Amino acid sequence: MSVDYSHIAEEAKTQIASCQDGEALEVLRVKYLGRKGMVQDLMAKIPALAPEERRAFGAGVNNLKNNLADLFAQREATLNNSAVLFRGAGMDRTLPGKKPLLGKLHPLTQVQSEICEVFGRLGFKVFFGPELETEFNNFEALNIPLDHPSRDAFDTFYVSQPHSNSLKTTERLLLRSHTSPAQIRAMKICKPPLAMIVPGRVYRPDAVDASHSFMFHQVEGFAVGEDIRFSDLKGVLIAFVQEMFGAKTKMRFRPSFFPFTEPSAEVDISCFICAGAGCSVCKKSGWLEILGCGMIHPHVLRSAGHDPSRWRGFAFGMGVERIAMLKFGINDIRLFFENDLRFLEQF
Ligand code: PHE
Repeated sequence: MSVDYSHIAEEAKTQIASCQDGEALEVLRVKYLGRKGMVQDLMAKIPALAPEERRAFGAGVNNLKNNLADLFAQREATLNNSAVLFRGAGMDRTLPGKKPLLGKLHPLTQVQSEICEVFGRLGFKVFFGPELETEFNNFEALNIPLDHPSRDAFDTFYVSQPHSNSLKTTERLLLRSHTSPAQIRAMKICKPPLAMIVPGRVYRPDAVDASHSFMFHQVEGFAVGEDIRFSDLKGVLIAFVQEMFGAKTKMRFRPSFFPFTEPSAEVDISCFICAGAGCSVCKKSGWLEILGCGMIHPHVLRSAGHDPSRWRGFAFGMGVERIAMLKFGINDIRLFFENDLRFLEQF
């Protein structure tokens, strides 16, 4: 039996050379070298041949097989080199890849983490309080009695099912209007000396506009010890402001009032946009208010179970949105909660 090996090889060579991608080449490889391919067909004929023919025939088929294998290997290498991915028809490996989209932290989360990190370095531990609070912790324990006019300043969302709750209390429940009630919880659980910060959501039934939201975030901070003074509070806040807004930032402590601190102050920082010259962000005053603070009122220490003649403490509270707005130059609080990617992608 005679087979025209060189004709088969020539034909295969032309076909292989015309393959433009790995997939077409693979189809051809199966046709010639596959288990049911041409070479295998020829091999299958061997047992039927006369014994004297077998040797020469077998050698011929083997030779063809090796030739073909070489041609395929060469073409595959050429296709790979010319940047056509094997099996990936039409894909150019030399083109720059598409960057996978990486998620990012929300700007408020970023700022909140930065605040917690700075206080962490100053030795404060993170503590969490519940958003659903008792009226007692949110008000009475913080020296804000029922008839106290300052309750108006903390207008509050009350919750209508007071008895079925996980806080195991029959008290009236509300959405906390500040993070200060966590002071009471922390001081009841942990023995002083202590230094803690409490990041979290708070709620106030404010009409939503560019600077108000019915839900926003605060970070509360407080320290209780035997000889904690106002100067400790000042030192901690100065260190915080310099870390957060830069070493050149000026600060001023303005006397203020909070029922749960005495004395109380509000802290302003020099406007870093106009450096004190006066701009629209600082309303031409050169100063930006960033937090409220003071020495923990003796009534508050007492309601958390500590003797105010032995223990003293300071506390402060700041709005995360306000700090983020100042830091990033954002002029509308609603942007934080709309989750518009065009806004979020900028941070
Ligand atoms: N709880 C106050 C507020 O929400 C902030 C504050 C906290 C002031 C601690 C003094 C001390 O406005």
